[in-house]
Amino acid sequence: MSVSFPLWFLERLRRAHHVVALTGAGISAESGVPTFREAQTGLWARYDPTELATPEAFLRDPALVWRWYAWRRGLIAQASPNPGHRALAGFEDVFPKVTVLTQNVDGLHTQAGSTRVVELHGNIHRNLCFREGAPVPPGAERPGEPPTCPRCGDYVRPGVVWFGEMLPTAVLQAAHQAAAECEVFFSIGTSSVVEPAASLPLFARDKGALVVEINPAATPLTPHADLSLRGPAGHILPALLAALTTP
Ligand code: OAD
Repeated sequence: MSVSFPLWFLERLRRAHHVVALTGAGISAESGVPTFREAQTGLWARYDPTELATPEAFLRDPALVWRWYAWRRGLIAQASPNPGHRALAGFEDVFPKVTVLTQNVDGLHTQAGSTRVVELHGNIHRNLCFREGAPVPPGAERPGEPPTCPRCGDYVRPGVVWFGEMLPTAVLQAAHQAAAECEVFFSIGTSSVVEPAASLPLFARDKGALVVEINPAATPLTPHADLSLRGPAGHILPALLAALTTP
């Protein structure tokens, strides 16, 4: 599939010193990690992921939520970065500063070589004590149910931010700082419905950034974006990197 970009956009992008990319589950879809709001298949088809990713769901049925995360961890362990992740990492050879603000918990941006990654919703490879929020190193895990914290005995939970929970202050500050500073802000593979991430492109636009969306489908951000590039991130980002690097 050939992709073409408006000249005015390429010219403005080439002049950027700081480029920010806010990413969501869509950028990892081509690595085989299911998104949240598209139909699930197989074992978990009858569960709504947005109803499993909450403290209430964990309190109600810790084993169910733990098993769902164990399944996602298994998928992520087999996944590798796709051309979209790699092209974004390649932006670091083109621009003086690139910041990735990701809602994904899969670590694939770092694996692809991106060096400035802000994990807005945490990282699935980490565990936390449910009661104290302190990190718990991986230990002996009982199949199918959450391990317990060696200090307080409460359940261990995945180190991700759930619905109804606040993002860590330092993480949110870093995201706002990057959004305020950048000249071009990409929103890639996100349905743009979960706050506070959904407001970051609007904040960046208010501070003067050009806002560019990459997504095969329209989202609530689309009418506010300066440019919408419709298609999979794994096609559009490598094409964009090629357009920037070929004379
Ligand atoms: P969603 O599942 O809500 O949205 C995925 C988006 O990716 C959709 O807009 C798709 O159109 C788009 N998409 C699908 N395939 C794509 C591709 N190949 N290239 C580009 N885009 C593609 O995922 P998020 O927006 O990331 O939060 O969801 C935000 C948050 O809600 C998640 O971080 C998670 C979730 O519940 C928590 O768990 C707190």
